[in-house]
Amino acid sequence: MNLILLGPPGAGKGTQAKRIETSFGLIQLSTGDMLRAAIKRDEPLGREAKSLMDAGKLVPDSLMINLIASRMNQSDCAKGAILDGFPRTVPQAEALDVMLTSMGKKLDAVIVLEVDEPALIERVSGRFTCVQCGAGYHDHFSQPRQAGVCDSCGGTDFSRRPDDNAETMKTRLAAYRQQTAPIIPYYVEKGILQTVDGMAPMASVEQEIAAIISKYMK
Ligand code: AP5
Repeated sequence: MNLILLGPPGAGKGTQAKRIETSFGLIQLSTGDMLRAAIKRDEPLGREAKSLMDAGKLVPDSLMINLIASRMNQSDCAKGAILDGFPRTVPQAEALDVMLTSMGKKLDAVIVLEVDEPALIERVSGRFTCVQCGAGYHDHFSQPRQAGVCDSCGGTDFSRRPDDNAETMKTRLAAYRQQTAPIIPYYVEKGILQTVDGMAPMASVEQEIAAIISKYMK
């Protein structure tokens, strides 16, 4: 099964993709994580993307389409993928359809996480990650059990994203409203869009998404 987790920055796409990928044997494809890895490795893609990402603007469609096309062709995507952060524009959505058809695959579902804007800003401003294993935490909602020590790997070094601040969030939210939200009617028309209340506690959101996926993976 191939599905898209769609929603504004901070809606919980990454959180939920990580929770459900192991239960269903799907693989999370986060374009944001791929770009951040390319920046870390100082690759040409990372150099091109960095200033745009830091400013909260979208990276050009052509780069993103090539990135996801090469990733979806890899063998670990055979059982299916959870797309997190792609597509983000109508041209990306159209390119995804062409790409999947050429691979003999299809898009089964698009799940939109709906969250109010003040909550998005609070979520993103408080988010931090373990440098060693990438486990995600939040100052208020999801702290490590022992302060300063990662629950998953015991790491003690944490980082915050350069674009996770209230000022850059304004640009990221504007990009979502202007460039990404227009893909919602595109998927409504295809009859594959479902909405989930992303304001609910993480475990309830996970249950609701799992119930949707289960219908496709019987
Ligand atoms: P990307 O990395 O995709 O960022 P984003 O879409 O802005 O989404 P986030 O990762 O910020 O949020 P999320 O929805 O995953 O929320 P999370 O689960 O972490 O993209 C970054 C940049 O890369 C873009 O701005 C752009 O420049 C570029 N880019 C990427 N893809 C692109 C593309 N296709 N085209 C062009 N450019 C592209 O949760 C957030 C916080 O909230 C966490 O701390 C979490 O603990 C907490 N939380 C989650 N769920 C809940 C809940 N139910 N209740 C309470 N707290 C919760």
